[in-house]
Amino acid sequence: MTPVVVLVGAPGAGKTTVAHRLADRLGTSVRDTDVDVERSTGSSVQDLFVEHGEAHFRDLEAAAVATALREHDGVLALGGGAVLHPGTQRLLREQQVVFLDVSLSAAAQRVGLGTNRPLLLGNVRATMKALLDARRPVYEDLATHTVVTDDLTADDVAARIHQLI
Ligand code: S3P
Repeated sequence: MTPVVVLVGAPGAGKTTVAHRLADRLGTSVRDTDVDVERSTGSSVQDLFVEHGEAHFRDLEAAAVATALREHDGVLALGGGAVLHPGTQRLLREQQVVFLDVSLSAAAQRVGLGTNRPLLLGNVRATMKALLDARRPVYEDLATHTVVTDDLTADDVAARIHQLI
């Protein structure tokens, strides 16, 4: 089995919502690797980061991606950082991958980091910018197709992916 499509992109790109809209259009189901990791460990992603560190989470995530790629034949949404794992990158080169591209300002809005309160949120936005800048080349390199999501609803993005695949 292999997914119809794998969605990648930064937090705030809309992967989870778009995955469900797209699956509705395709008459298939969604699998989400964050949910898989949470199910298999019984812990939230946030707790795994805090209690065991990012490296441990990344190992669990890479294993979850490999399993989902073998088992799932619908839409697969990956956590934003899953593409950082070399083994995952190798596996994704054999998949139809859609990169949901998002600007810093749109991603910040969507994850609740608006443009006001610069003193409180400035550092978080700077971290997010660094993350987007560092990952964009990886997303682009792995993508079969790219959809810029900034001014589109999740349904519009799903419709565009439906046309592309
Ligand atoms: C992460 C994104 C999250 C989750 C974890 C790490 C990242 O998923 O996997 O918090 O490194 O970008 P979403 O992209 O679904 O928010």
